[in-house]
Amino acid sequence: MRGLIFSILMIPIIPFLIVALIIYTWRVRRVIIPQNISGTAAEPYGARLALHIAGTRIDNAAYKIAEHMILYAQPVKSLMLHTAWLALKISGYRGFFFAYPGPRPSNTVTMMSHRSHFFDRSMSEAFSRTENSVEQLVILGSGWDTSCYDLPEGLDLNCFEVDMAPTLNIKKQAIEKAGIPHDHVTFVETDLNQESWMDALLTSGFDLNKTTYILWEGVTMYLTDEAVNSTLAIFSTLPQGSVIGADFFTEDMVKGNPPHETWGKRVHAAIKYYSEKIMFGIPTGGSLSEGCEKLAGKHGLTLTKFENVGDKDDKKKVPWYVFTEMTKK
Ligand SMILES: C[S@@+](CC[C@H](N)C(=O)[O-])C[C@H]1O[C@@H](n2cnc3c(N)ncnc32)[C@H](O)[C@@H]1O
Repeated sequence: MRGLIFSILMIPIIPFLIVALIIYTWRVRRVIIPQNISGTAAEPYGARLALHIAGTRIDNAAYKIAEHMILYAQPVKSLMLHTAWLALKISGYRGFFFAYPGPRPSNTVTMMSHRSHFFDRSMSEAFSRTENSVEQLVILGSGWDTSCYDLPEGLDLNCFEVDMAPTLNIKKQAIEKAGIPHDHVTFVETDLNQESWMDALLTSGFDLNKTTYILWEGVTMYLTDEAVNSTLAIFSTLPQGSVIGADFFTEDMVKGNPPHETWGKRVHAAIKYYSEKIMFGIPTGGSLSEGCEKLAGKHGLTLTKFENVGDKDDKKKVPWYVFTEMTKK
């Protein structure tokens, strides 16, 4: 019933959404891509904004920076977010795209909520640990992630946001303009596909001797095989109890192997739209988590959490996207 009311309320809102989408698309093509700012970073950010306005996963920092971020700057914020908020508020609808933690198995519509839930749980468990507590948080390929600005009360962490300069600079400006406290955050410009990225982190104050949580969400697919492996190799030198949360597309999907021929093409095309490129996919092995266990094991790490989009027992929902947590034991 709530879904029906929401759909009816959305009908008069559609013209506003169309105008918003036209402006949004124009900004992607004319501002974001020419300035080499990551367009793919806007996708998970948009999903988190949707959860926020639905009230299912509160992310105040994400909402506050929206108007200072090119894509959601006015009038898009009002035309897209305020209108949808009104329909959600009146109808009380919280399903589908707006559900958090969302249904399992998740699908292409609910995967972002699933992904957020996986990493939220991973971080919250690591941060609430009393023994060998986490002292540093690093967000690799931070995009519009706001984890550094939503830490549990009383948690004193040194945070590092790592991304390429164009994306990082625009994010930093948005954080400053939104008046979000960020003294605990160091912004580190670097290219994760270059071997020197750890040097950039070290010269920014990162301490290799401190127990660390690394959030590597939505990034491995844009990196080379060497960059993924060297990042895990570097991570494995951190102190015991350090945790890395990372998600991977499957190698079968990235290569378009059966049964992902069509879906693989669509995903490549969607990323290409933003002038970005998918490179890395994880070989999943017989049991879906096998490849992740192997990759973790290769670097002396333990796979401590694993979830996937789709259902490996259903031929129509063959998994192509996995979420992992690896721990230095
Ligand atoms: C899909 S976005 C994910 C952003 C963020 N982690 C999130 O989940 O909202 C991918 C991010 O990785 C960054 N990225 C991609 N390749 C990179 C590289 N070689 N070096 C540094 N950052 C990179 C992009 O700039 C972008 O911010």
